[in-house]
Amino acid sequence: MSATISADVPVFAEFDPLDPEQVADPHRWLKEARRNQPVFFMPKYGWYVVTRLDDITRIANDHETFSNRMFVTVPEVPPRYRDRLPNGFPMKVQLAAADPPAHGRLKRFMQAALSPRTIAAHANRIRQIANTLIDEMLRNPDRQANLVVSYADRIPMMAIAALLDAPVDDHRRYREWVDASLELITTNPSPARLDVLAETLVDFDTFVRTLIQERRERPGEDAISKMFAAASKDDALGEEEVLGLVSSMLLGGTDTTSTAIGNMVWSLLTHRDQWDAVRVDRSLLAKAFEESVRFRDPGRGPIRLATRDTEIRGIPIPKGSLIQLCTMAADHDETVFDRAEQFDIFREDLKIAPAWGRGIHMCVGRVLAHLEGEIALDTLLDRIPDLELVGDGARSYTPQLMMPTLRSLNVRW
Ligand code: HEM
Repeated sequence: MSATISADVPVFAEFDPLDPEQVADPHRWLKEARRNQPVFFMPKYGWYVVTRLDDITRIANDHETFSNRMFVTVPEVPPRYRDRLPNGFPMKVQLAAADPPAHGRLKRFMQAALSPRTIAAHANRIRQIANTLIDEMLRNPDRQANLVVSYADRIPMMAIAALLDAPVDDHRRYREWVDASLELITTNPSPARLDVLAETLVDFDTFVRTLIQERRERPGEDAISKMFAAASKDDALGEEEVLGLVSSMLLGGTDTTSTAIGNMVWSLLTHRDQWDAVRVDRSLLAKAFEESVRFRDPGRGPIRLATRDTEIRGIPIPKGSLIQLCTMAADHDETVFDRAEQFDIFREDLKIAPAWGRGIHMCVGRVLAHLEGEIALDTLLDRIPDLELVGDGARSYTPQLMMPTLRSLNVRW
């Protein structure tokens, strides 16, 4: 980072999002931050953290001062893969990493791909997927499962496959593509490792290019056909852009939604009266999902880059600084939510949880995530209404700075 940090910058010394205790229960520390140091710097990780919703909203609406440019850094393709990836890695174009005006154009294509109508057209397929996964789970004679591995983690990948009108059974391949893409953009892989990642991403590249070819010839009701339908002669959509948008769907829409589904089941099972309330009144499904996302945000919050010297709540922020809009903290902002620390699907002060972000980059996949979350819960309530946690569910999260992804939630029936 190029910025220099002056001596009067507030630092919250005890705060470390990767400390196991804070991974398990981050809200104790986030509450203290909101109250005593709503904006602070983390010397260990090199970025500022902003914790109150009003500050986050202001920053998210000022994309000239706070850019999304730094979001991903994609390495060069290794020489022996250049003939198979002549245009670079397939996640080079990322919606979340674009600033206006490029951002608005790409977002329009993505909104066409993820429109409520396109998504509704795939609802039955997603319900079928949820039922098939439960059939498989119920075959376990031990009558227990890790719900993340057997259910929550598979639904988002299979739902995106369904939306692409591609085979849904290949979810392991999707997982490999997501993991390889994340590793490529968030770590500094050795040359040997880069080769392995390139091999996996050649597979993704070929898969999407084949779909593109098919959809150009025979458009359908799938996400790629909808992107092309939103293009025009004056505003053609390039193949690299479609690749980037499909990659954006996979990177934005898998671990987030899987963790949200798992967290929702955990929240409801630890508030059994609310599980029962949704069981008897399914009109509560949407509220249950939205409140779960607020109560346990799947992410910690997106990052921005200061394009000039600025300030947040009077704290000077030098040009070149990285700033995390900590939506996880804003979800429990007590100046916005009554009894913010309580899980309550009946709350009336929640419309759109801070967890979806604010401003022009606000989540474009919210309708899809809701559909997946609501179908996942509806199907569980129909098929395994007496589901319960094994002990406390032995929840575990990956120690990731941006997104503590849920890896296990043990349940029985
Ligand atoms: C519970 C699930 C989800 C949560 C909590 C979530 C959260 C977020 C947040 C906070 C942002 C804003 C990023 C920023 O401000 O820089 C975002 C953007 C985005 N999300 Fe989601 N997301 C979820 C599900 C999905 C799904 C299902 C998809 C698509 C399949 C998706 C695709 C995207 C994309 C492409 C962006 C970038 C939008 C832009 O830059 O304009 N997300 N999401």
